[in-house]
Amino acid sequence: MSKINCIGVLTSGGDAPGMNAAVRAVTRAAIYNGKKVKAIYRGYKGLIEDEIREFQSQDVSNIIQQGGTILKTARCKEFTTPEGRQRAYEVLQKESIDALVVIGGDGTFTGARVFAQEYDIPVVGIPGTIDNDVCGTDSTIGYDTALNTIMDAVDKIKDTASSHERLFFVEAMGRDAGFLALNSALASGAEAAIVPERETSVAQLDQLIANGFRKTKNSSIVIVAEGGGGAQGLADRIHKLDPNYDVRVCILGYMQRGGSPSAYDRILASRLGVAAVDALLDDQRNIMVGVQNDEVVHVPFSKAIKDDKPLKDDKYQIIQILSI
Ligand code: F6P
Repeated sequence: MSKINCIGVLTSGGDAPGMNAAVRAVTRAAIYNGKKVKAIYRGYKGLIEDEIREFQSQDVSNIIQQGGTILKTARCKEFTTPEGRQRAYEVLQKESIDALVVIGGDGTFTGARVFAQEYDIPVVGIPGTIDNDVCGTDSTIGYDTALNTIMDAVDKIKDTASSHERLFFVEAMGRDAGFLALNSALASGAEAAIVPERETSVAQLDQLIANGFRKTKNSSIVIVAEGGGGAQGLADRIHKLDPNYDVRVCILGYMQRGGSPSAYDRILASRLGVAAVDALLDDQRNIMVGVQNDEVVHVPFSKAIKDDKPLKDDKYQIIQILSI
């Protein structure tokens, strides 16, 4: 018999579509198993400041389709200090919360890992970030929705690019990771993807664009990851190299984080929410639940926050082959 009677749930870091579906799944799975569930608002900040209330099943009604997070979110500096974590532990004791489910990305799990090492509190993580930069899971909640949002935006940009015969640099989110840029480039038939994981010189990029633009095309799209050098800077350099290009830049920005989650993200969030509660009741601790080859897996936090989730090399080549 598990000693857990009450599970706390929070969302932290950048919001991602599908976080609400995960909160719903955690809440209902906990109640289904006869446990109490307490919602912690504003991530670790709300934990430290005791912004907590018990949830009933109806508190998560009608949220599976909503983007953002009803629990609100924050990036909390205080939780990176021993004093902040001590206060968080005191609040958990005061609220009689025996275990935590934290929904977020690598920053969220880094905090959870340290906290779980310092205090005797079981923590299970659910990967939620549009960037998909969490190791040990094929996808993070929110990534599929954001990818589709970018693809839809690029489809629209292509209409005007082709009408004006322009070269567009479109900036996608991803501070440290190129999953969104690389895969949206593939999905939208772009000429190239510029990502932080792989160096591409301006001369190489010029060559890639020239392959299609000068020979057969009258417009081109390059997707640049936020962490890949910045779309504006690259556009300026390409224009300098070849002033004949009529260049425009479109920074997609925070629209990528919003919107109703895709079916894939809702299903993923629902499975991982239930899996997180099951893991806690099965005395698992300090792990992330993820998905690999459509199977739910348990991944230690130390592996999930490793810095090297690789992009698939063959995708660069496919983009190049298909852009002639
Ligand atoms: O982690 C998700 C993400 O959207 C990154 O792609 C982006 O760099 C960052 O969050 C932006 O964070 P903030 O909301 O703090 O500006």
